[in-house]
Amino acid sequence: DLYNIRLIGADTKIHGVIGNPIGHSKSPHLYNAAFKSVCFNGIYLPLLVDNVANYISTFSSPDFVGYSYTIPHKEAGLKCCDEVDPIAQAIGAISCMIRKPTDGKLMGYNVDYLGAIGAIEEALQGSNGSPASGSPLAGKLFVVMGAGGAGKALAYGGYEKGARVVVANRTYEKAKELASKVGGEAMTLAELKEFHPEEGMILANTTSVGMKPRIHDTPLPKEALKHYSLVFDAIYTPKMTRLLTEAQESGATIVYGTEMFINQAFVQFERFTGFPAPKQLIRDVLARNT
Ligand code: ATR
Repeated sequence: DLYNIRLIGADTKIHGVIGNPIGHSKSPHLYNAAFKSVCFNGIYLPLLVDNVANYISTFSSPDFVGYSYTIPHKEAGLKCCDEVDPIAQAIGAISCMIRKPTDGKLMGYNVDYLGAIGAIEEALQGSNGSPASGSPLAGKLFVVMGAGGAGKALAYGGYEKGARVVVANRTYEKAKELASKVGGEAMTLAELKEFHPEEGMILANTTSVGMKPRIHDTPLPKEALKHYSLVFDAIYTPKMTRLLTEAQESGATIVYGTEMFINQAFVQFERFTGFPAPKQLIRDVLARNT
């Protein structure tokens, strides 16, 4: 009973996740169960889409109110928006699109970074007690490995929270370009091995190094990890990467890539429905469907 068929009617608000492929997506399970739990009259569909612009112009009725965007359509989705929020514009990709009820305009957002940053902040608060005010990332040295879509999202997110951002990437030019936009320092992954101006730094991996099937690879050797107090890995297949295993052995707090997905789902749910996210229910549904 993925869909609440008895509820579907003329007032039902239609949502979906736009991607290709889309069959593996857990989002329909998550959002339909969450909509039902707060009695929100909405449905959420997996949408296998080839051409985003064609899709959006075809399904332009006001009932089609919210979309999530996934690979490979996050950039194409941005071009279909009437308005884009500044962070999504800077990242060059959206993860979420909402039709404004007042004038029907399509608004684009990127909440991927909020998911990752939110998970990191939550873990930092857990390890340091509650912060006096502001973000626990403020003032911290925040090292982002990778300068692709996810790297940009993390770097802008850290910058927005007042962290001192360092971008380390295999290809130096890309690190430099991103670092210059967030007022940070750039280096190669090789240089990062020797970089430890202070202890207690925060590390985020957004490269694909360590992802299945190459689970024995790691973007940063274990010797370097002792300088970090928290390590986040955006990879979630496997959940426990070699980087996270070695970070934990080195005494760092670790944050799983799955937390990024869960946290961005909370944010999207709240934007879609206006209700606070049923956080435990969302965690339970994801645990059941993995
Ligand atoms: P995403 O949208 O998930 O960020 P992406 O845009 O394809 O994916 O970016 C992949 C990132 O992983 C890049 O930073 C890439 O480094 P380059 O810019 O040098 O290509 C990094 N990456 C991929 N394979 C890598 C490898 N074997 N070693 C180091 N970095 C790697």
